[in-house]
Amino acid sequence: MAKYILSIDQGTTSSRAIIFNERGLPLWQAQQEFEQQYPADGWVEHDPETIWSSTLSVCEKAIQKSRLPASAINCIGITNQRETTIVWDKDTGTPVYNAIVWQDRRTAETCQQLRDSGCEKSIAEKTGLLIDPYFSGTKIQWILQNVDGARAKAEAGRLLFGTVDSFLLWRLSGGKVHKTDATNASRTMLFNIHTQQWDKELLALLSIPETMLPEVCDCSTDFGMTTPDLFGKSLPITGIAGDQQAALFGQACFEPGMAKSTYGTGCFLILNTGTTAISSDNRLLTTVGYRLNGQVTYAIEGSIFIAGAAVQWLRDGLQLIDDASQTEALAEAADKTSNVYLVPAFTGLGAPYWDPHARGAIMGLTRDTGIQEIVAAGLQSVCYQTRDLLEAMAADGAVLPSTLRVDGGMVINNWLIQFLANLLDSAVERPEITETTALGAAYLAGLHTGVFESTQQIQTMWACDQHFAPQMSKTERQHLYSGWLDAVRRVTNH
Ligand code: G3P
Repeated sequence: MAKYILSIDQGTTSSRAIIFNERGLPLWQAQQEFEQQYPADGWVEHDPETIWSSTLSVCEKAIQKSRLPASAINCIGITNQRETTIVWDKDTGTPVYNAIVWQDRRTAETCQQLRDSGCEKSIAEKTGLLIDPYFSGTKIQWILQNVDGARAKAEAGRLLFGTVDSFLLWRLSGGKVHKTDATNASRTMLFNIHTQQWDKELLALLSIPETMLPEVCDCSTDFGMTTPDLFGKSLPITGIAGDQQAALFGQACFEPGMAKSTYGTGCFLILNTGTTAISSDNRLLTTVGYRLNGQVTYAIEGSIFIAGAAVQWLRDGLQLIDDASQTEALAEAADKTSNVYLVPAFTGLGAPYWDPHARGAIMGLTRDTGIQEIVAAGLQSVCYQTRDLLEAMAADGAVLPSTLRVDGGMVINNWLIQFLANLLDSAVERPEITETTALGAAYLAGLHTGVFESTQQIQTMWACDQHFAPQMSKTERQHLYSGWLDAVRRVTNH
């Protein structure tokens, strides 16, 4: 008999719901974009009520499209934009402030003070993270310091914190369940990834009461039930992971050395390192890949803030194209001998540079540079940044993947993926199902209820759409990459 899983993917720019079947096929889906709020320079917020209402609405629409009765949904999985921070009142359920989004830089100064106070090493050892406004810890601290009455309420045990998964779970369960999973916890800068506990010293350092924090669970477990009024029947929520870790799971990267790279607004490359938490000397993050039955699989992650957003800028900022789909033909037509580099450091650079002050540049322009060359340079910048991450991983002594699995909206562009394979000198594979984030959450949920038997079974369900083998000489590859490193040097302090 067919079994259906409702997967919720609450992302940075839209909320989506996809219903998968027991073969991992996406059958019905709904998506809703929502407003981004930029109240000050470097601040990014979402209305938590919109996060909630858009999520509920896409779930209802996907179920309506399927014409299935709610009783046919076996379980629900949740995956989410990570690090984004929500604090709400335990009694009323009302958020005390907007969601502070992962991209928000308002706590940059606090982070600098933390670094100056010399706690960078111990934070890295415990959490696997660098001190950066990206993570939830300093965002919670900001809310407690800046929202009227918040600190007193928090100390009286009346406020709860959650990343978006936790907030949705709390709402879906009618305010009964306050839990998160280990992948989301690992992005807060408050969680010890070795002991799998909230860290009391870090909580004290940031003055965050422990009563605010959710219980941290495995990614595939019994998180709770939805209230019956939402979908007409109580449904079990049995899988949760942050979106990039969910994509790792959806790409079936279960062996140490396997890696996936997701190309959306930004790009997040995650390499499975098995039961070993490799600490990076090259400014990468050590994080929880997933946790099943109490067993943690660790990963190292490189986070790039601008990937697809560079193409968006070519479209909306420069108006060189009307639609992202034009970039493939334009790049193909570009002069291959052109030495144009676009460094998309619009909001600084993420890994491995972590330079918030760097800004974007286009270099190597000549009299015959045209739209094609600039578009090609925009696509190439995504590949160069991916190579930067793999170089840093190699320098950390990680075993690199023989094949990189890619997903996300940009990977339909064959020119881009071929250039990526050429530049990495590595095979790159695009799966048949590129909805890997939602698929990963569905796998996690279905593993707990028995829709899927094991990760071994899930591994056999992964199917390749297209394999891209490298086709570039070593000399050309090195020449191109050294030009990129030179361009980056010109916009950073490194
Ligand atoms: O760490 C941020 C990441 O989880 C955001 O992903 O796909 O919502 O932009 P996305």
